[in-house]
Amino acid sequence: MGAVSDPGKAAFVRGLGADDVITYDRQDWGEPVDYVLDAVGGDLLPSAVTALAPHGRLVAYSSGGGTVAAYDLLVGAKSVIGFQMALIARGRPELYEAWRREVWRLYEAGELRPAVHAQFALEDAALAHAAIEERSNLGKVVLVP
Ligand SMILES: NC(=O)c1ccc[n+]([C@@H]2O[C@H](COP(=O)([O-])OP(=O)(O)OC[C@H]3O[C@@H](n4cnc5c(N)ncnc54)[C@H](OP(=O)(O)O)[C@@H]3O)[C@@H](O)[C@H]2O)c1
Repeated sequence: MGAVSDPGKAAFVRGLGADDVITYDRQDWGEPVDYVLDAVGGDLLPSAVTALAPHGRLVAYSSGGGTVAAYDLLVGAKSVIGFQMALIARGRPELYEAWRREVWRLYEAGELRPAVHAQFALEDAALAHAAIEERSNLGKVVLVP
């Protein structure tokens, strides 16, 4: 299941393979889930923890922050795990390198197809920021050095 800010983005996320898509503002996020990969955080973090089934895990990797109440974890024996790629690249370079090679292999085999919304020259970085802030992008906003 995917989650989006705007119902207009739901078809795009379904097209990427999600079985179901909800908007963040929905009160009921449906059947509890075993895993949440949280790329948004902030005010959405408590709702995402609520969406977890007992023993479920949430991987927090956004820069959006947010606060988790320990009691909300206790009642369902849920876990929240932080993930930072840069830390792994520095501390476990062999692991990072193995992932990098695998991702590149999948890309070259056509199994990973990045969704690119728009590309901007580096000197137009302000336009790229504006595109992200507008919140209309479907996929990546890419800067080309
Ligand atoms: N931990 C790590 O190792 C690591 C590595 C890379 C990136 N990150 C973090 O992971 C997150 C996602 O990165 P990304 O490259 O996937 O970002 P992205 O492509 O720029 O954005 C992904 C989606 O985030 C949603 N979003 C939620 N709040 C937003 C806001 N305030 N402004 C703009 N978009 C917002 C938007 O979808 P909706 O409109 O549907 O909400 C957007 O399409 C970021 O916080 C980034 O800093 C972490």
